[in-house]
This record gives sequence, C-alpha cells and structure tokens, in this order.
Amino acid sequence: MKLCMIGTGYVGLVSGVCFSDLGNDVICVDKDLNKINLLKKGKIPIYEPGLSELAIKNFRNKRLRFTTDLKKSIKDSDIIFICVGTPTKKNGSSADLSQIYNVAKQISKSINKFKIIITKSTVPVTTGDEIEKILLKKNIKNKFSVVSNPEFLREGEAIRDFIYPDRIVVGSNDKKSNRILKNLYSPLISKGSQYIHTSRRAAELIKYASNAFLATKITFINEIANLCEKTGINVEDISIGMGLDKRIGSRFLRAGPAYGGSCFPKDTKAIISTADKFKSNLSVIKSVIKSNENRSKILLNRINKILKNKIKNKKITFLGVTFKANTDDMRDSSSLNMIPVLSKKGAHIRYFDPTGYKKEFKKIKNVFYEDSIRKSLEGTDLVIIHTEWNEFKSINFKNFVKGKKFIIYDMRNIYSPIKIKAQGFKYFSIGR
Ligand SMILES: NC(=O)c1ccc[n+]([C@@H]2O[C@H](COP(=O)([O-])OP(=O)(O)OC[C@H]3O[C@@H](n4cnc5c(N)ncnc54)[C@H](O)[C@@H]3O)[C@@H](O)[C@H]2O)c1
Repeated sequence: MKLCMIGTGYVGLVSGVCFSDLGNDVICVDKDLNKINLLKKGKIPIYEPGLSELAIKNFRNKRLRFTTDLKKSIKDSDIIFICVGTPTKKNGSSADLSQIYNVAKQISKSINKFKIIITKSTVPVTTGDEIEKILLKKNIKNKFSVVSNPEFLREGEAIRDFIYPDRIVVGSNDKKSNRILKNLYSPLISKGSQYIHTSRRAAELIKYASNAFLATKITFINEIANLCEKTGINVEDISIGMGLDKRIGSRFLRAGPAYGGSCFPKDTKAIISTADKFKSNLSVIKSVIKSNENRSKILLNRINKILKNKIKNKKITFLGVTFKANTDDMRDSSSLNMIPVLSKKGAHIRYFDPTGYKKEFKKIKNVFYEDSIRKSLEGTDLVIIHTEWNEFKSINFKNFVKGKKFIIYDMRNIYSPIKIKAQGFKYFSIGR
C-alpha cells in the first residue's frame, strides 16, 4: 500500500520507518526543509534507539522516501496519516489544532482518488468530525474516509512499541476503512497484537483516557512517596506490594520527579478542556495536574533542605535533563522547572546528558553543559540523578571525589542507600 506520513517527528518518522519495514511504500513529508534534507542524507534528527539503522535500510531499498512536497505526496498515496503536533494552545489549556486543520485543508485541495485519512496525532473527541467537515466543503463526498488511529508508542522504546503494541486502536464509522486498516496492520496482528475497532470518537477518547490514567498512576505513587518520607517507609515496598495485585499492576508505580514529556502534561490539560466543553467534570485529572505542577516545588524544597538552606554559590550537577531516559526530548521536562529556580538562587549548575547540549538552558545564568560524567562531577557539591540512563546506573562515585565528598540526590532511586552510604556519601532518594 502507498502510505503518506504528514509530519516527520517522533511519531511520523518512527511509524513511517516501521510501516516501510513491513513492506509498504512510504513517503514521509515535513514542512521543515532542514529535517528532510538531513533525512535524505541518512541522518536522523531525533534520538531514538534503533531508528537510524531501520531508516537507512528502508531508504536504500527505496521503500521509504522523504520530501517537503505535500501536494504530490497526497496525490500519490492511498492512506494518509496525519502526525503533526497538537501542543497546548498559547495562553490556554486546550489542544491547538491549527496544524491538523491546515493539513486537512491541504488534503481537501489535492484529493484525486479515494483516500483514507487517519489522525495518528493525539486529537480531542470530535476532531475527526471537524476534519470531515473541512473535506466536505470541497464537494468530494465518497472520495475519503476519516479514521482515528491513535499512537501509543513511548519515546526511547518506540520501535518495539510500534512492532509489538499492546493494542492497535482503529476508530472509524465505515466498514471499508476498517477492513483496509486491519489488512495494513495484519503483520502485527499475526504476531499477537490486539486489534480493536471502535467508533471514531471512542478511539480519540481512548488515547486521552489512557494518558490521563498513566499520569494519575505516576502522580499517585509520587504522593505516596511523600508520605513514606514522613513515616520512615520505603516507597519501593509499597510499589511492589501494590503492583503484585493484578488489578493494579506494577508499571508506572515508580516514584520520581514530576511527569513531563510531550504527551502527559498537554494531554491531561486537553482532556479537561474537552470535558469542560461538554459540561462534564473530570475532577480526578484536575487534581493530578495540580499535584504534578507542585511536584517540582517539593523536590526543590528537598534540595534546599539537603543543602541546609544554602544554595547560593553551591555547585550542583544534573545527570540527565530530558524528561526521561533514552530520548533527547526536552518538552515539559521537570529539569526545566528546577534548573532555572536553582540558578536564580545563585547555584552554579553543570549538566551532562547522553543526548548532548540543550538550547533550552542557553539563556539561563550559570548553567553549563559538560560532555562527560567525569567533567560534570568535578568539584561539585551536589549530584542530582534526574534521569535513569543505563550509564548512570553503575557509576563508581568514589573515583570522582577529590577532597570533600559530594552529596547525592537520586531522584530515580537507582542506587542502594545502604551501599552508597557505606562509601561515606550523604545520599538522598525519593520516598526511601
Ligand atoms: N512523541 C510521542 O512520544 C508521542 C506518542 C504518541 C502520540 N503522540 C502525538 O503525536 C503527535 C505528533 O507528536 P510528535 O512528538 O511526533 O511531534 P513533533 O513535533 O516531533 O513532529 C511533528 C512534525 O510535524 C511537522 N509539521 C507540522 N505541520 C506540518 C505540515 N503542514 N506539513 C508537514 N509537516 C508538518 C513539524 O515540522 C514536525 O516535524 C502529537 O499529537 C502527539 O501528541 C506523540
């Protein structure tokens, strides 16, 4: 089948590459010429393990192409996936759908034969209806079907998640598009993935409800960790004790910094905005957002206490600044809330991240990137383990001490408190 991915970011590029690997002809379109030029040279603009090898393989055997020519790509394809961004509106909380509607208008102008138009982007309930209205304005009835096929991949695990998804959700209001999509996904279904067909609106809501639930789970265990810190309990015992209950499950029950990334913060806000529009109150999700927004303040207070209220002139090292390990994505990372506050209080901050320098800190005073763990730890007072990259999991901290020992604040509970304290370090973690 001839597929077109509109938007070649984390979702469009990964799905485009994986669909081409399943034997489809895929054209990935982006308006960002720089991105497309890099891709044509075999360079992958994002950090995603395994993506580069798979992209190069399929680019060489000509199943995968990259272009900025949207019109021609639409004309040449049978199935069009919309994978553009749906960020939070500036000065608001609802999803900004301007990129989606722009693309829908472009498609309406270039339709030349029957096409299935699919939103893979996360879009609020009724967006599919709106796309349909835009297309109908061009009097092209019977030339298209609008489908919702939300994407559930996780950055850092994206290829595995695409090839072995827990479920494939397709929401369409007609049988033909369902049949075609089931066929497209048949290589994954035959490997055991569940295929669920729902109404288009249900598929749109499944995505938001899933993300809001996962955000709730993280926030829940983070609040329990706060209680553990006050009562001398190890939060990991709680996570294990709860997680073994099959109705609860152990995943997303690990306490840490505030949740961040390109999805949970914006999607929790957007689902509330949708509910408000329909005069429905999602009070649980509202309190999750509030609690998560407060999370960085709680961790900053802890840093203040650890440094005995003397942050000024202290040297603080961040190991990892992205919102989680195995990605270069900085969107809504909790480091963006914590580092500027520490800088304002006069701390001298250095960070090391396996995905390199981050432009987000360029204008923040006294924040510097170091290109190795060793350099970032030189002469530091406090080390904050902010993300759990494998290379942070077995650091022999003793080798980096020159003179006075630094303090370690392990926000991912990577290390054993007993072992690290036995080495003479002051060690703090989350909920332990
Ligand atoms: N990142 C994730 O882990 C993830 C997971 C599941 C779902 N999603 C959802 O998928 C959607 C895309 O997310 P992302 O992280 O891939 O975004 P992204 O910002 O990485 O990529 C979006 C791309 O779309 C391009 N674009 C915008 N308008 C365009 C146009 N008119 N023509 C061609 N290209 C255009 C942009 O240049 C950009 O490269 C969002 O709705 C997001 O919520 C993201």
